[in-house]
Amino acid sequence: MENKFARHRRLRSSNAMRSLVRENHLRTEDLIYPIFVTEGENIKNEVVSMPGIFQVSLDRLVEEMKEVESLDIRAVMLFGVPSEKDEQGSGAFIENGIVQQATRLIKKEIPDLLVIADTCLCEYTSHGHCGVIHNHDVDNDASLKLLAKTAVSQAEAGADIIAPSNMMDGFVAVIRDALDEAGFSNVPIMSYAVKYASAYYGPFRDAADSTPQFGDRKTYQMDPSNRLEALREAESDVEEGADFLIVKPALSYLDIVRDVKNNFNAPIVAYNVSGEYSMVKAAAMNGWINERELVMEKLTAMKRAGADMIITYFAKDAAKWLGK
Ligand code: PBG
Ligand code: ZN
Repeated sequence: MENKFARHRRLRSSNAMRSLVRENHLRTEDLIYPIFVTEGENIKNEVVSMPGIFQVSLDRLVEEMKEVESLDIRAVMLFGVPSEKDEQGSGAFIENGIVQQATRLIKKEIPDLLVIADTCLCEYTSHGHCGVIHNHDVDNDASLKLLAKTAVSQAEAGADIIAPSNMMDGFVAVIRDALDEAGFSNVPIMSYAVKYASAYYGPFRDAADSTPQFGDRKTYQMDPSNRLEALREAESDVEEGADFLIVKPALSYLDIVRDVKNNFNAPIVAYNVSGEYSMVKAAAMNGWINERELVMEKLTAMKRAGADMIITYFAKDAAKWLGK
C-alpha cells in the first residue's frame, strides 16, 4: 500500500455523504424564543440594539405568537417591560403583572405553546437589581421571598415552566417549596444555574430596561474566569430540585456547557444571549458575514457542546432556515 495515511476527505465528498455521517443536528423543537411584553396599546417597538426583536404590547402579542407557532417553535420565554417600577419590584408578582397577563392570554389563545416565565425582579425594580437592596447590597434572603411569590403568581397565570434567573443562593429550593405548597408540584423549574456576569447582556438591558442604576451584578452573577464554580452552582440547583439547567451566555462558555452536560443528568439549556445576537446582526447588516450560515453554525456548535435546547433570539430565523 502506498498511502498509509487516513483519507478523512472520503466522508466529505458530497452533501449526501456529509449528511450521512453528521453527528449533531439542530431541530426546530430545540429552540426557545424569548419575547418582551410591554404595557400599553398597539406597541411593536424594535429594540435599537437588537434588529428584528420587538417589545410587543398584549394586543399585538397573539399575532406574534401565531407566527411563532406556525414556524413549529414549541416554547417561548417571557420577559416583562412594566410601565411602573418600585423598590421591591412588585410588578413581578402582582396578579395583573404584564407577564401574568401575557401568560393567561397565550394559554387561552394558543394552549399548546409552552410558556416559560423568566422569574426575576430586575425589570421591575426602580434600581434595576435582581433583588431588594439593603445597605447598598442585594439582600439574598429578603429577595427569595419575593421571587417565590413571583414564581407562584406566574404558575397561577398558567406558566408551564418557571425559569428563575436572579442568582440568589437557594432560589430553586425556595421556589420549589412555594410552588408545591400552592399546588403546582407538576410545574418544572428551568434554573439559570450557571449565569456569568457578562457584558453580552447589554442589548437585553436596553430591551428590558433593566440596567442597574448603581454598581453591577458581580456580587450575584458568576466571575467569567471560573470553571469549577459552575459545577458547584449546578450541583446545588440539582439538589434543590431544578429540572433543567441553563448555562448563560452560550458562545464564550461552550466549555462550561460541556462540563455541565458531562456531570449532570438533566436537560441542558444554552442561552444564546442578546449581545451574541446583536454582534451577528451588526456584522450581517454590514455585509461582513453570511448570516444564515453563521447562525446555523453557532447554534449547531451549542448542540455539539452538549446543549439539549437553546434559548435564542434567532429562533424564528433558524426555524425558517430549517425548512419550517
Ligand atoms: C435578568 C436577565 C438577564 C438576561 C436574562 N434575564 C440579564 C441580566 O442579568 O442583566 C440576559 C438575556 C440576554 O442578554 O439575552 N435576570
Ligand atoms: Zn434579573
